[in-house]
Amino acid sequence: MKRALIVGCGYTGMHLAARLLEMDFRVVGTTRSGSRAAELESAGIEPLAGELSDKETLRRIDKLGPEVVAYFVPPQAQDDPLPMVLAATARAPVEAFVYASSTSVYGDRGGDWVDEMTMVRPETPEAEARQAAERQIVEATWSYQTRTRICRISGIYGPGRTLRRPLESGEYVLIEGHDTWVNRIHVDDLVSGLIAAWQRGGDGRVYNLVDAEPHRASEYANLAADLQGLARPQWIELSAAVERIGKEQLRRKLGSKRVRSRRLKDDLRVELQYPTYRDGLPAAVGREGQSRES
Ligand SMILES: NC(=O)c1ccc[n+]([C@@H]2O[C@H](COP(=O)([O-])OP(=O)(O)OC[C@H]3O[C@@H](n4cnc5c(N)ncnc54)[C@H](OP(=O)(O)O)[C@@H]3O)[C@@H](O)[C@H]2O)c1
Repeated sequence: MKRALIVGCGYTGMHLAARLLEMDFRVVGTTRSGSRAAELESAGIEPLAGELSDKETLRRIDKLGPEVVAYFVPPQAQDDPLPMVLAATARAPVEAFVYASSTSVYGDRGGDWVDEMTMVRPETPEAEARQAAERQIVEATWSYQTRTRICRISGIYGPGRTLRRPLESGEYVLIEGHDTWVNRIHVDDLVSGLIAAWQRGGDGRVYNLVDAEPHRASEYANLAADLQGLARPQWIELSAAVERIGKEQLRRKLGSKRVRSRRLKDDLRVELQYPTYRDGLPAAVGREGQSRES
């Protein structure tokens, strides 16, 4: 039986785990929390609970010797576990170490198109940390001969991630004169992309995992509100937005780019189940409704 290690078994990790379990994998997922460990266990995932920097956790990762590693922990300002996990899996028969990165590494492009051939241009501390993590992944391809893949992701949505809470609370706002271009991917298609990156990807290669249609921020938020019977988000002035959401978050929110994936279809041969948010969002909201009723 093949073994998969999901490092940071959160929203995407749980969905990936479900698919790998269907493929008859033994799936181990990491979490720092006891309650999440119980959640993992009830989903058929073996929890590896504890801090990733703990010697015992790293020893157990080494002992597991997984064939597939999916890494979902965002970069940490202190004691980032990525180098430790790369070292702990260096001796394993890894077919792919799939690193979940972010399209934030492209920076703000004023609405222009970017693809995997575009030079990165991170502009925020988080995006710089992502670029540094990607470098570590590429280095591991050389130093450990680990078969790595870098998957740049944007705007994950799906059941349980449909903007419900931020719309309900009024926390989600749009900014006058800045209806930015954004990109999304339904979690089911994201999982297909991650699996295809493992199975058909190239070592150290970058894949943008985004759907087929960038859109304006307002289009997605308005549809999310309409589908869930919630008020559409409020438009506020830029000056009010600084006060309300703070400079750093505002900077991220004002970033505008249209991300294209040349490789998801051509190289990884993934046919998206939900090519646009107009296909995927009604399905995600529908599935949430079903689970609330059951
Ligand atoms: N959500 C998006 O739209 C989006 C867009 C672009 C890129 N991404 C990136 O894609 C990846 C997956 O996204 P997601 O939304 O599925 O993430 P998520 O639900 O937040 O899952 C990430 C998991 O990482 C674990 N984690 C966080 N900090 C950690 C630390 N210091 N040490 C050990 N574990 C830690 C957490 O697990 P425990 O708390 O259980 O330990 C968490 O469940 C993330 O890296 C995210 O930044 C997301």
